Amino acid sequence: MKEKTLASTESSDTTSPAQPGVQRRSFLKGLGVTGAALSAGSLLTTVAEASDRRNIITVGDVAILRFLAAAEILETDLWQQYNELAGIQDSEVPGGSGSPLYTAAVTQLDGDMAQYIHDNTEDEMTHEVFINAYLVSKGAEPVSLESFRNLPSSQATGAQNIGRLTNLMQLTVDTSWWTRYRSRTGNPDLGDTFPQAIPTLAVGQHTAIPRTDNDLSDPNFLNAIAFTAGFHFGTIEQGGSSLYPSLAQRVTSSEVLRIVLSIGGTEIAHFQTWQDKAGNALPLTAVDPVTGVSVTIPNLNSPPFGGEDYQTNLIMPEPTAFLSRKLPACSIIRPTETKGAAMGAVKGLTADGLFVGQSKDFFKFMHTLAVEADLAVRE
Ligand SMILES: [Fe+2]
Ligand SMILES: [Fe+2]
Repeated sequence: MKEKTLASTESSDTTSPAQPGVQRRSFLKGLGVTGAALSAGSLLTTVAEASDRRNIITVGDVAILRFLAAAEILETDLWQQYNELAGIQDSEVPGGSGSPLYTAAVTQLDGDMAQYIHDNTEDEMTHEVFINAYLVSKGAEPVSLESFRNLPSSQATGAQNIGRLTNLMQLTVDTSWWTRYRSRTGNPDLGDTFPQAIPTLAVGQHTAIPRTDNDLSDPNFLNAIAFTAGFHFGTIEQGGSSLYPSLAQRVTSSEVLRIVLSIGGTEIAHFQTWQDKAGNALPLTAVDPVTGVSVTIPNLNSPPFGGEDYQTNLIMPEPTAFLSRKLPACSIIRPTETKGAAMGAVKGLTADGLFVGQSKDFFKFMHTLAVEADLAVRE
């Protein structure tokens, strides 16, 4: 019997000239594709097939979607923790019961923070569910991280006490996106690096949620926790803003491309919002009474900060170098280099401390998904 493919459009059994069949088949084994659903026959090999890419999904597309499904599950997990304590608890995003003092501290960034946190959380839930459902609809296996719910919940009143995938209580927050998006000359894709907006958040471990109700007692430290969250929101969503366009460049199916572009756009909407809100953080210095770690939120509009690289109302991407410094400056998402983008995302989230305490099996699973996504090629 002719092998079935993931494509609803008929495709050839010819193997790709670029990828020997043996390699392709061994690659398939790692992809979690159900039964014989996907084969080398799903490769686009002729001009006729290439003319209708809309419903053809390749092994590379599956790998990219599976990695994105995992990333969305992780985003959902972290956003749910924020929502339980500082968002709106309702039937759309159930689970917590709220921490009024933490919510009030976060609300200093914007009167609508609870709504925005709720909506970002709901968006991530729908991203995760949609991508997995789409994979199933194409005969591919969805992603589950349920076996990795190893990490503890906050013990503060308002949070659910369940196993988590991500750790918001030991973050090392990379805030260089702030200066990266304000620079008019630098682009990480051209090798540039960028200073931290909040240098103290980029070292040591910081909690972005109250760990217990004790963390609510000192208003100054509670503000530090809330503003750590405010910057972490931007850190997470700038990552998503780059990840989708980076991976989109190696998608083959035009329908999968449509999914990646459409979801990726909402990540940018999130980032834009959080970049605006983080700039409302009030200057402070606070010391964590449990760990002794200090955090200082500087006035980003005053020396030694200030100027275009720090100015808080520059919430839209400043035009900068793109592709080549010989071309004119352009307002863009950055980085968008596609090579190694999935592994780069895993490394970035790991460096942020989001997985502190996670198991070796978790890292192995995520690395495998990332390697497979980064092997995907546009066909
Ligand atoms: Fe998302
Ligand atoms: Fe997101």
